[in-house]
Amino acid sequence: CRRTRGQSPWMSKKRVHLYRWILPLCCHGGGFLTSVWLFPNVGNQAPETSENEVWRKDGDKVDLAEQSLLNKIIRRSLVRNRNQVEVLQRDPSSPLYSVKTFEELRLKPELLKGVYNMGFNRPSRIQENALPMMLAQPPQNLIAQSQSGTGKTAAFSLAMLSHVNTANKWTQCLCIVPTYELALQIGQVIEQMGKFCPDVKMAYAIRGNRMERGTKLQEQIVIGTPGTVLDWCTKYRHIDPKKISMFVLDEADVMIATQGHRDQSIRIHRMLTKDCQMLLFSATFEDSVWRFAEQVVPDPNIIRLKREEETLDTIKQFYVLCKEKEDKFTALCDLYGCLTIAQAMIFCHTRKMASWLTTNLIKEGHQVALLSGEMTVEQRAAVIERYRNGKEKVLVTTNVCSRGIDVEQVSLVVNFDLPMDMDGNADNETYLHRIGRTGRFGKRGFAVNMVDSKHSMDIINQIEMHFNRRIKKLDMSNLDEIEFLQS
Ligand SMILES: *[C@@H]1O[C@H](CO)[C@@H](O)[C@H](O)[C@H]1NC(C)=O
Repeated sequence: CRRTRGQSPWMSKKRVHLYRWILPLCCHGGGFLTSVWLFPNVGNQAPETSENEVWRKDGDKVDLAEQSLLNKIIRRSLVRNRNQVEVLQRDPSSPLYSVKTFEELRLKPELLKGVYNMGFNRPSRIQENALPMMLAQPPQNLIAQSQSGTGKTAAFSLAMLSHVNTANKWTQCLCIVPTYELALQIGQVIEQMGKFCPDVKMAYAIRGNRMERGTKLQEQIVIGTPGTVLDWCTKYRHIDPKKISMFVLDEADVMIATQGHRDQSIRIHRMLTKDCQMLLFSATFEDSVWRFAEQVVPDPNIIRLKREEETLDTIKQFYVLCKEKEDKFTALCDLYGCLTIAQAMIFCHTRKMASWLTTNLIKEGHQVALLSGEMTVEQRAAVIERYRNGKEKVLVTTNVCSRGIDVEQVSLVVNFDLPMDMDGNADNETYLHRIGRTGRFGKRGFAVNMVDSKHSMDIINQIEMHFNRRIKKLDMSNLDEIEFLQS
């Protein structure tokens, strides 16, 4: 057990508490707990991001801001989505406009060129409704909720670029996001989309960007983190908040997970004028996000994209009885050998197990990618990209890494270790989440669970009971049966 890494000066009270709580567990030799000591990519941004973490019951952490960043990186293009869009208009009597083409928006030609140049041929589901609202005159406020990859960033980037009056050399559009890295991601989209609009300028209000106090920014668009933006509006007076006519708050759910960001956002918002157009985006919409959104966005139009339901209906579920991990490994190889598999995802409980399994699969000659918590966001994005493009057919991962990854062609999910909570009960929700990624878009999927003890058999029984679906025993000595299953 090494303690030194956790003791940086900015460690919050909350973390100290968790640290104490997790320490005894760590001493039992669980390799996966090393995540506690690693804070990738924090640099001097640490105080802004350190509280943005959700601790899972399995002792690994989910960093919300990192997750959003990962999603933004891997979702450069839009995901297929046929889900229902719900629109709630502030004034239900006014006609509801939606567009099927970008031409209908009457954008400046150079901006339209930028949009097409990025490979967007037509508006996404959410953009069909959101764009006319965001571009309407007089301006309308909007709260929009949809998962990553549905076109939110492109939508508000387009709105900001279109809104700017290039004759005015002051900041008119202000966009705040929870982290430095997210700001850079959005900045890249704006740069690409505004490639043919040379008169539109953009600046980053992020820590480390310094100017002399009192210097007024000439850039029309500013993207930044709440702390720095607040300083630039008040202490340094680089931005006159009274001249901001479009305010965008992105990743609201991540933002409010940090108390400091939440308060700073509200303070920035209070400095804006009543006529400023407010746009708020979030991937999820719990009550807390909703209350915050209502505080920041008066008289909003609301757009929500319904989530795709996860279901076990199109998935055949099995379990295999094994003795220990070597036995599980053999079963996995046999299984893989006799199924025609597009792509497989294999879940392990700990990083240690995941890397052991990966090493051994590679030794057997399989092309395997490992997605692990100690990788940086960029490394993880690269692994996911390669897997998506079919360069590797097998992805080994722990639970925490796999969140938010949709790969359409996964046809086999293997629970090398079954999902369970701290008390050793079946983690039904995680099971659904893992398995639900196969058998999508009308395709059939297989899920195979490795059972190596009476306890894991209990878990299988709990899962069966919870979903009221049978999980059949697979006899590995009868390969004909397996082949038959696939036909
Ligand atoms: C999962 O479902 C089973 C059966 O309904 C239940 O016994 C078990 O407690 C559930 N697990 C959790 C973590 O709630």
